[in-house]
Amino acid sequence: MFAPTRRAVLLASTLFAAMSLAASLPAGAQELPKLEKKDSYKVGFAQTESNNPWRIAQTQSMQDEAKKLGHQLVYTDAAGSAAKQVADVNSMIAQGVDLIFLAPREEKPLIPAVRAAARAGIPVILLDRNVDPALAKAGRDYVTFIGSDFVDEGRRVAEFLAKEKPDGAKIIQLEGTTGSSPANDRKKGFEDGLAGKANFTVVASQSGDFARDKGRQVAEALLQAHPDADVVYAHNDEMAMGAIAAIEAAGKVPGKDIMVLSIDGGKEAVQAVVDGKIAAVVECNPRFGPKAFETLNRYAAGETIEPWVKNIDAFYDKSNASTEVTNAY
Ligand code: AHR
Repeated sequence: MFAPTRRAVLLASTLFAAMSLAASLPAGAQELPKLEKKDSYKVGFAQTESNNPWRIAQTQSMQDEAKKLGHQLVYTDAAGSAAKQVADVNSMIAQGVDLIFLAPREEKPLIPAVRAAARAGIPVILLDRNVDPALAKAGRDYVTFIGSDFVDEGRRVAEFLAKEKPDGAKIIQLEGTTGSSPANDRKKGFEDGLAGKANFTVVASQSGDFARDKGRQVAEALLQAHPDADVVYAHNDEMAMGAIAAIEAAGKVPGKDIMVLSIDGGKEAVQAVVDGKIAAVVECNPRFGPKAFETLNRYAAGETIEPWVKNIDAFYDKSNASTEVTNAY
């Protein structure tokens, strides 16, 4: 009968201890996959949807930059479904892309896909939207998050409103996609910005899913239910444009009877500031291509990437909209 040596027993118990430790670590807690330095990459870009000018501008920017640098871009459009986006990421893993740029539609459902990519040795860079920071971490589950400070965007809207309407306001809030990081954070930033100001009340807050027609329908219903509302705060331009249509359909004048505030800074919305229909827009620039690929190159060069590569946003109101409108996307 074979009698284990002392060394074999020691080895087995060390292995057992290491396995127990690994099992006790949170899912995805592993070293991030490295990216080999190459002249040309096969890169995935998992987009959330393409039903608005912001998404179209972002995709265009990614495609232009990939083409300019000679990389192959494997592009998918989740068509507004987190479940499809999970499948899209899994298909990119199966195709063996070198790295995945992911714009997670919602904060929670994409986390397993991010971890699956890491397990398959494919680094992920989050683009424009984040996953739940309490459940997944940059530098552990994914390389970094490139994007705006959505909380600050909401806070800047609130600061503008408090300055422009010192006597207070009754506000209708049109929220973005439920469960998405910009909707969660723009709501938080705005409500934090108005905290302690008793004369400002959010009379109704409902999701318009970042979409123009949904925003119009929700605004129509909320304006009817709250005829005394004098401000509409929309989490993006598309819903703000929908709200303008709803205000006009209700026989009111946007910019006079009802102040409209928005986030994104697309050409149409900045022009609406020039025309006096929107009072202010905080920019959230969709032109991610150059920064996305610059970050990929830094990572391939072995740099430690900061957990958040932050975009700096402009602000448009009547003081600068007419000069800035030509630069808007
Ligand atoms: O994640 C950024 C947001 O998503 C933009 O504000 C919005 O227009 C887009 O759909």
